[in-house]
Amino acid sequence: MSEHWLIAGANRGIGLELVRQLIARGDRVTASVRNDEARAALAAKLAPQHAEVETLVFDSRDFEAVSKAARSAGAGFDVVFANAGAFGPSPQTVLNMDFGAALDLFSINTLGPLRVAEAFLPRLKGAANPRIALMSSELGSMANKNPGAAIYSATKAALNKLAQCLAEELSPQGVTVVALHPGWVKTDMGGPNAPLGVTESAAGLLATIDGLSLNDSGGFLNYRGETVPW
Ligand SMILES: NC(=O)c1ccc[n+]([C@@H]2O[C@H](COP(=O)([O-])OP(=O)(O)OC[C@H]3O[C@@H](n4cnc5c(N)ncnc54)[C@H](OP(=O)(O)O)[C@@H]3O)[C@@H](O)[C@H]2O)c1
Repeated sequence: MSEHWLIAGANRGIGLELVRQLIARGDRVTASVRNDEARAALAAKLAPQHAEVETLVFDSRDFEAVSKAARSAGAGFDVVFANAGAFGPSPQTVLNMDFGAALDLFSINTLGPLRVAEAFLPRLKGAANPRIALMSSELGSMANKNPGAAIYSATKAALNKLAQCLAEELSPQGVTVVALHPGWVKTDMGGPNAPLGVTESAAGLLATIDGLSLNDSGGFLNYRGETVPW
């Protein structure tokens, strides 16, 4: 059955591939980008299929812009996927911190997905199986001790906690919320040495979200549908 998905952060990387695969399998997609230039670039990348994709423009640091976009979307959604994220400053060890850049990264990676979830929540009303997917990373897992990505990891760890809180709050409304890890993926962020391509990662993420029910809410899952330790 065809569903309506929001993919936030869709002009490149994993988000773009999610859009491509959703179109190919016949789902309806609304894609968000940050500005009109990115909107035009996305249309060119998706040609000749782009006519099927509605685009919304917002920066996930701007709650008013996200809310306005959510209200303007053409139809209600089945799935809201807050995929947008950034890696932040380099280097980023705890003793060599760019505090301003670190705060900005929390706004993008931690609060950004929450802004998207909150703003689009009313648009999930009426969905048979409403789901919210928040793009995290296994670098946010307390079990992962990589000191070289301190702030990025902390933003994703904090996002995981918010995902858990949101899942608890929305469970009575029948809305499923999960945090996801896409694997280490060859994108601008993942770099050329990543072992996984966007095709496999996106296909796995879609299959994982397809299979979600309320019983899974509050989980931290990878693109294979496996549980990631908190
Ligand atoms: N690649 C990996 O190995 C990997 C591993 C674990 C988790 N992840 C997560 O997966 C997600 C996608 O990563 P990716 O590898 O596809 O990264 P990417 O190629 O760098 O793409 C990032 C996307 O997020 C958008 N974005 C960044 N800041 C934004 C903001 N403030 N508001 C709205 N959109 C914003 C970008 O838009 P612009 O083009 O306008 O910047 C772009 O569409 C991220 O959340 C990332 O943390 C990736």
